[in-house]
Order: sequence, then structure tokens, then C-alpha cells
Amino acid sequence: MSIHKLNVAIDGPAGAGKSTISRLVANELGYVYVDTGAMYRSVTWKMLQRGLPLSEQDAIVELARQSDIRLFPHPSGQQVFVDGEDVTEAIRSSEVTSSVSDVAKIAGVRALLVEKQKLMALEKGVVMDGRDIGTNVLPHAEVKVFMTAGVRVRAERRRRELEDKGSRITLEQLMAEISERDRIDQEREVSPLVMADDAILLDTTEMSIGQVVERIIDLCKAKMGGEKLNENV
Ligand code: DC
Repeated sequence: MSIHKLNVAIDGPAGAGKSTISRLVANELGYVYVDTGAMYRSVTWKMLQRGLPLSEQDAIVELARQSDIRLFPHPSGQQVFVDGEDVTEAIRSSEVTSSVSDVAKIAGVRALLVEKQKLMALEKGVVMDGRDIGTNVLPHAEVKVFMTAGVRVRAERRRRELEDKGSRITLEQLMAEISERDRIDQEREVSPLVMADDAILLDTTEMSIGQVVERIIDLCKAKMGGEKLNENV
């Protein structure tokens, strides 16, 4: 039985659960998980390390060009290395989180990272999550999902994650932070966060992780079945 590999694009706003779900879907299918947000975070981390201000856009693009960003599969998600240094934890800091949306607005940075992302998916069998995967990075992905959830639920999920790491940020602060990131991501000129015309909308506000994973796996199975049927026609 020949089973074609698919590419799966998962987009949506901050905190909708994209990374957890994408990782589980990738595991289940034996695919590679690619967290594209980690790439924008890596450039932001390096910019902050160098003390470069956001206004120095040309220098930030040059920094991105010179950065060797690598993603490796890991049981708890994905390990991220920049120029050989393990930045898996560092790119999740609040400093990086509060600047990353502005770095992701820079057209030159996006062009460089999108090119890398397209290469990663060339051989198929990739579950890629981000904001512009279905619309721009992998417009021909066989399965496209746009995941959303109410702001409060997204903030609650994020707070649980942060509490596990010992942080005591309030729900109100998190809701404000998430809403602001949504606004910047949706209003930027280059590849804003929008749902692709052919994406399936999944509102996960009242869904468990298992239910969301199952739904996406079903979509993949339907696609695989459909392709095999087409082969027989
Ligand atoms: O998913 P995340 O929170 O790690 O993403 C970090 C930032 O990067 C977020 O503000 C949006 C941006 N991003 C993007 O513009 N395009 C992507 N494909 C992925 C992330």
C-alpha cells in the first residue's frame, strides 16, 4: 500500500495550542514538527544579545542572514540552536516574547525565514505551525488548519504553563499581552495572520487536546484516502 506523505499547515493566534497539537500530530503520523515561531524568536534573541534596537532594521535582517538556526526534534517539543548555542529555553523569555512580533514584521527577516521553511517541507511529511503557513509558506499543503480559542482560555493555558515554570504573572496581564500580540500579527503589512481560504477552522475553546489531535488526524486520513481513490480513477 503506497501512502503519500502530506504537509500539514497549522496557523492561528498566540496561545491557541498550536505547538502542543502540532507536535502530537507529527508524532502520531511519524512526521517532522517545525515550529516556525521559534525561528522568529531566535532572530529576536540574537538581536537582544547584540543590543541592537528594533529601529535598526537593515542590521536585523543582516543578523538573520548570518544566523545558523537549527531545529531538532525532542520528546518535549523541539530543541533550538542558534550558531551552535542551545537557545531552547532562552527564546521563551519574556524579553523575547515582548519583542518578537515587531521583529516578525520586518519584511527582510520574513523573506529569509520563509525560504528556509519552504526548504524544510520540500520532501513532505512535515507538520508546520505559525501564522502564515497555509497562506504563504506552504500554500499547497494538503491539510490546513486554523486554530483559535477565546483570549481568556488562551491566557489561562499560558498561565498554567508559566506557573509550572515558577512565574506569577496575572491572568489580566497575560490577556493584555496576548491581545497585543494578536493585534500586531493581524495588522502587519507582510503576511498578516489571516485564515487561508481553504483552511479548516478549529475553535479549541471547548475541546480537549486529544479531541483536537484526533480531528486533525481524521482530516489527514481523509486526504490520504482521497488521494488513493484518485489514483485508482
Ligand atoms: O508562535 P510564537 O508565539 O512562538 O510566535 C512568535 C511570534 O512570531 C509571533 O508574534 C508571531 C510571529 N510568527 C510569525 O509572524 N510567523 C510565523 N510563521 C510564526 C510566528
